[in-house]
Amino acid sequence: MEKHTNAAARQHGRPGRRALLGTAAALGVAGAAGATAHAAGPGRGHRTPGGRFRGSSVLITGGTSGIGRATAIAFAAAGANVGFCGRRADLGSRVEREITDAGGEAVYIRADVRSAEQTRDFVDRVAARYGGIDIAFNNAGIGGGGPLHEMTPERWDDILATNARGVFLALKYELPHMLRAGRGVIICTSSSAAEQARPDGAAYTASKRAVQGLVKSAALAYGPQGIRINALLPGTTDTPFVRPPGIPDADWARYKEAFGPLNVEGLERMAEPGEIARAVLGLASPDFPYMTGASVAVDGGAGAGRRLVHPARS
Ligand SMILES: NC(=O)c1ccc[n+]([C@@H]2O[C@H](COP(=O)([O-])OP(=O)(O)OC[C@H]3O[C@@H](n4cnc5c(N)ncnc54)[C@H](OP(=O)(O)O)[C@@H]3O)[C@@H](O)[C@H]2O)c1
Repeated sequence: MEKHTNAAARQHGRPGRRALLGTAAALGVAGAAGATAHAAGPGRGHRTPGGRFRGSSVLITGGTSGIGRATAIAFAAAGANVGFCGRRADLGSRVEREITDAGGEAVYIRADVRSAEQTRDFVDRVAARYGGIDIAFNNAGIGGGGPLHEMTPERWDDILATNARGVFLALKYELPHMLRAGRGVIICTSSSAAEQARPDGAAYTASKRAVQGLVKSAALAYGPQGIRINALLPGTTDTPFVRPPGIPDADWARYKEAFGPLNVEGLERMAEPGEIARAVLGLASPDFPYMTGASVAVDGGAGAGRRLVHPARS
């Protein structure tokens, strides 16, 4: 599935980067390009023109959809070389094309984060292609709820294997590359659900709480080696993760309009995926050189309050 580096972008600079920035802006990632800034790693103090992450090697798990897709587009718009995975090859190729057609650099490599072999292969191929890994966004995840006594052990295992073990595997195979370089930044997607449980969300909350634990311990272990590791806790975000398949746009817009004031005491709306992507780029940037081991909530204020009501779907 891997294809060669976008030759046009290489030969002619990035003629379509304006188009990619347009896509990023449409996703709510305004400012993705930044003006001029440091490269990503804690050890890199120099400034590089033409995109805040220009030349940085960025790895994303779960980049075929939603938050991961928006983040891949945002990093590419900011000049990074992006390697991302997911299981759905059709979607992966589409996202890759979306980026490369617009003059960015990205490669989709099919990988399932439940598989140690596939995760290692994905990580190693991204590192080989882009000369190491500066930034990793361990984001692949699935939902799944229901009363505990009705949940099958297989479903529990699948949620934990994807959301917790998948993050462990990604860390396990990314860290050696960063240790060799003596620097790196890792962001792992947890969830606001790690801190605000729901009665029917035990497996999901347990898995996202596990991500926080992994991040805290790894941040302590690898901080001395120049590697920063943080957990991102998005609030409810408008992606296929929460949008029922097949729901008409107008019905979904009405649902969202009702959802915000009822559930997000603060900004009173769901997040757009590009807004979560912006937080990832921020955390990956040298703007937060002293932040590691943290759980960063990007939830519109929902976690500060205590509303939790779902409007009826029309
Ligand atoms: N949307 C929200 O409200 C929300 C809130 C808090 C946290 N989150 C978290 O944010 C992350 C991204 O979710 P999203 O909202 O963007 O949902 P999404 O649109 O469903 O995206 C999930 C991504 O994870 C990938 N994925 C799932 N299982 C995988 C596996 N076994 N191997 C590799 N990739 C896998 C999917 O790709 P394939 O299906 O192609 O494999 C897809 O790219 C998840 O960790 C989720 O728990 C979401």
